[in-house]
Amino acid sequence: MSKTFYITTPIYYVNAHPHIGHTYTTIVCDMMARRHRMLGDDTCFLTGTDEHGQKIERAAQAAGKTPQQFTDEISAEFRALWDRMGLTYDDFIRTTSERHKQGVQALWRKLRDNGYIYKGTYTGQYCVSDELYVDAVGPGAPCPDCGRPTETVHEENYYFKLSAFQDQLIRLYTEQPDFIRPETRRNEVLSFVRSGLRDLSISRSTFTWGIPVPDDPKHVVYVWLDALANYITALGYGSADASKFDKYWPADVHMIGKEIVRFHCVYWPAFLLAAGLPLPKGITAHGWLLFEESKMSKSRGNVVRAGSIIDVLGSDALRYFLLREVVFGQDGSFSFDALVQRYNSDLANGLGNLASRTLTMITRYFKGEVPYPSNAAHTPADAAIVDSAKKAIADFATLFDQFQFSRALETAWALVAAVDKYIVENEPWALDEKKDEESRGRLATVLYTSAEALRIVTALAYPVMPDATARIWSQMGLGDITKFDLAELHWGQLPLGTRLSEVQAVFPRADKSAVERMQKMEEQTAIVGAEASPSPSSEVRQPASVPAGPIAPAKLAVPTPKPAATPPDGKISIDDFAKVELRVAQVKSAERVKGADKLLRLEVDLGTEVRQLVAGIAEAYAPEALIGRKVVIVANLAPRKLRGLESNGMIVAASPEGGKPVLAGFLEDVPVGTRLK
Ligand code: MSP
Repeated sequence: MSKTFYITTPIYYVNAHPHIGHTYTTIVCDMMARRHRMLGDDTCFLTGTDEHGQKIERAAQAAGKTPQQFTDEISAEFRALWDRMGLTYDDFIRTTSERHKQGVQALWRKLRDNGYIYKGTYTGQYCVSDELYVDAVGPGAPCPDCGRPTETVHEENYYFKLSAFQDQLIRLYTEQPDFIRPETRRNEVLSFVRSGLRDLSISRSTFTWGIPVPDDPKHVVYVWLDALANYITALGYGSADASKFDKYWPADVHMIGKEIVRFHCVYWPAFLLAAGLPLPKGITAHGWLLFEESKMSKSRGNVVRAGSIIDVLGSDALRYFLLREVVFGQDGSFSFDALVQRYNSDLANGLGNLASRTLTMITRYFKGEVPYPSNAAHTPADAAIVDSAKKAIADFATLFDQFQFSRALETAWALVAAVDKYIVENEPWALDEKKDEESRGRLATVLYTSAEALRIVTALAYPVMPDATARIWSQMGLGDITKFDLAELHWGQLPLGTRLSEVQAVFPRADKSAVERMQKMEEQTAIVGAEASPSPSSEVRQPASVPAGPIAPAKLAVPTPKPAATPPDGKISIDDFAKVELRVAQVKSAERVKGADKLLRLEVDLGTEVRQLVAGIAEAYAPEALIGRKVVIVANLAPRKLRGLESNGMIVAASPEGGKPVLAGFLEDVPVGTRLK
């Protein structure tokens, strides 16, 4: 019987459009799933979307949509992107689905019946962004995790007896050191748990967008209990058909980003222990993808979407780059320049070139049939390639199983480089010219050796670059690569006399314009994305006549009204004014923009999200003086780039003739996010 392999991504929040941070996690899982399928394992790869909670409810409200309509749209976007990239997930779970709801309620009942849930009252600070009660004192106090202002809540809630699991969890991390990877994350979790666990509030009654608590529908289930349960509800836990659950649970790998380690490594195993269910075999946290040195995220407005890269270089290029360039487990930087450089050096000039030169020579010198190597002509150089290929097969597997993907690829590419050198040194073109029997035998050996090494690299690289490797495989006349048994990969399997198909370049060289094309597409997507994004602006297109500068004059610019609706005397109607979404925001950070005397880069909190703005107020305000200040922003302005930084809105200021701008503000305190009408 084949082994099973169950791998999961986090389920993604639907308050943001998918960007390459989300894509990264999903690609890593897809690659692992493909490798396991190719090794013959009965594999299940799960992904999906996380759709409940206050954060989503508010985002939907801001978009003027019902939460269901809103989540349907963004969830579909994630799924469409994964499909476009050919990601081979076996199931896509949505937390708003009926099957998930049933499973969560079954888990709740189990926890309750086992005596781990009780009712209590909580008064304290809540961070809406993290969906977490936090240790912070006083209204608006910053969240210790993310720094955003917290909200004071007083709620009667259900609690989970998390404290009862402290010792069991410590024992788990100690006895099973691979439970949390990498080690740095394990150590963090261990010290967090050792410092003492408090019981966890697992219901909310101040909003309704969630799964009703069984037998007490005034409450909804805490979004993290709801979300974590997806890993078992997708397998049918709590339903009439638990066959998949019996088959695949416990998961082999929960793949996550490093910021959600605590939820997965502390809460999730505690819930499972309390329910009497087996624990996952391992939780693996990777680092963040950075862009311009900060975490790529919607709130910073520095996201890159996968679409532009797929259009220009193809999805294999993105997959290879992310796995080769980023040291798995650590943070890694993304840039278009680095992407194109890697693509050209490792793919166009590396594997692509090896494939086309080897296959073209076989076509030309041996009428497209893999030649028989001549035993007489076996040299140390041939033996060195065989050794290098055997080493690549062995090392690749070991490194891959240790999640060292970049090093695994390095070993395979060492073989590519060795074969390239071997071809250059053995000069098959010169051997062909000689026409004598010995040279012909040698030529056959050189080309057989090169083709066999190419086959091995192609098989190893398949999970990373499924499209390109499938094409090389088929050009080699080997059929469908997905049918190949990777567990059996060894030197000498290339059948002699195999007929090649037509040879075509798999990685055409990218020229300089590739970077510009991707950047341009990104800029356009940012604008289109923002129009489709969760803000009322989706209904309103900004006419070109609206000045989109960093400062709004106190006299607000408004869209040019349609002639029929124009009130007399150049006045605007109340509907026109209502199109401009003015909101109270609080400055979280401020810094000067290098090389621009007038500009400041600000991060402002809108209650539901933190946004990056670029404002022309540097001559009037020192950055440090702005931190914590409440300002007014135009929240539904289409984003624009200033000095390469995306500005997502406009700060409102009076602009006296010839004087410095003066920011609009309030004499009384106003909650962050409040709309001005
Ligand atoms: N919904 C929760 C997870 C619940 S799982 C039971 C959540 N969602 S999220 O949309 O914020 O996405 C989280 C995951 O997306 C991260 O853990 C990570 O896997 C991936 N990434 C999002 N941004 C990323 C980067 N900038 N870099 C790398 N991965 C990133 O948290």
